[in-house]
Amino acid sequence: MDHFHYRDGVLHAEDVNLEALAAEVGTPFYCYSTATLLRHYQVFTSALGALPDPLVAYAVKANPNQAVIRTLARAGAGADVVSIGELKRALAAGVPADRIVFSGVGKTAEEMRAAIDAGIYQFNVESLPEAELLSSVAVEMGRVVPIVFRVNPDVDAMTHAKISTGRAENKFGIAIDTAPAAFDLARSLPGIDALGVAVHIGSQLTSLDPLERAFERVGELIAQLRAEGHDISRADLGGGLGVPYLSDQPEPPSPAEYGGMVARITRDWNVRLTFEPGRLIAGNAGILVSRVVRLKGGRERNFLIIDAAMNDLMRPSLYDAWHDIQAVRQPQGDPMVADVVGPVCETGDTFASQRTLPRLDTGDLMVFRTAGAYGAAMANSYNSRLLTPEVMVSGDRWAIVRERPSYEDLIGQDQLPEWLSG
Ligand code: LLP
Repeated sequence: MDHFHYRDGVLHAEDVNLEALAAEVGTPFYCYSTATLLRHYQVFTSALGALPDPLVAYAVKANPNQAVIRTLARAGAGADVVSIGELKRALAAGVPADRIVFSGVGKTAEEMRAAIDAGIYQFNVESLPEAELLSSVAVEMGRVVPIVFRVNPDVDAMTHAKISTGRAENKFGIAIDTAPAAFDLARSLPGIDALGVAVHIGSQLTSLDPLERAFERVGELIAQLRAEGHDISRADLGGGLGVPYLSDQPEPPSPAEYGGMVARITRDWNVRLTFEPGRLIAGNAGILVSRVVRLKGGRERNFLIIDAAMNDLMRPSLYDAWHDIQAVRQPQGDPMVADVVGPVCETGDTFASQRTLPRLDTGDLMVFRTAGAYGAAMANSYNSRLLTPEVMVSGDRWAIVRERPSYEDLIGQDQLPEWLSG
């Protein structure tokens, strides 16, 4: 459920009229709903209600805006970070360090130092060389840091290949059958304390089966590690639960179904569980608002050219992703069929092909739904377009939570070498 709905014929974000908002902010812009973010967080945490003291570490990569992280942090969320930048964002937004987990295959010594210094909850270590480096950094700092090994269970998550992470050929984690050897090695590394196992097999999962298979393997591994004398007190089950992108398609498994499955599979594990949901929390809490620049009738197709482009929302061009489109003014008249495209000079700058749409014309406002996760987070300024601003709504209040930069900002980032200046 979300808080974007028509009222008096105009789409609203909670109690804020999007037509009025667009007039103030200009288009395109992202708009987030506080109530929806909080609702998703609460639905997820209550779905885990049967578990003792789980840590829900919001995957900051989904939407790293300070306002989003702080909203969730105030509700009790931790953070899953994958870079020093995300670590700093999480800390700045008020996430307590002891609720932060650090994932990712390429952590550098500098990133490790910063996270050790902050005192994070755990490192999710993805290879033996990483474990060795982390140990030596920790020893230099006179510390022993808690880690879990991320294992790769070789399970097909049955999602888009580019966001699938749990197959043997993917770069993530250590092969699950080599985990016991990794725990043996960890014993000889004085700077780390290997406390458990992490797994994350992919994103936008629409079936629980692959997750269940991966978790079962983790359960077997925990039993084996304990039999070999390792003390296992933690397991991190990652993120990945899908969200509905198509309004008329069957819903992905609910958080309650997921929570039920987790409770069943992990019943005898006796560990503290961590979860890293990103999309589930932020996806349907955000929309991208755009204005139609013009309608272009082609010989073969009609093109609806809008002022948002692939640089603002990359998911359709990267993953052929579907985002529902709605008109801000409740549609009147017959639907139309068109390709929805942006102004960028690439054919891939296509949001939707041959889509049946509400009737829209030059100057009309429209929105892409489910754009709160991996939307603004992945935006860039290709074609020298300005980074998309972000707005957060709470009831009848709204605030710009990321400004649209100016063209001076954009150009000012470049510097001329001395031989070209003057
Ligand atoms: N934990 C780890 C270790 C991850 O790699 C990810 C996402 C998450 C948690 C959060 O997963 P979620 O709950 O959001 O599915 N840009 C792509 C998605 C990339 C996901 C990367 N990892 C997209 O727009 O679909």
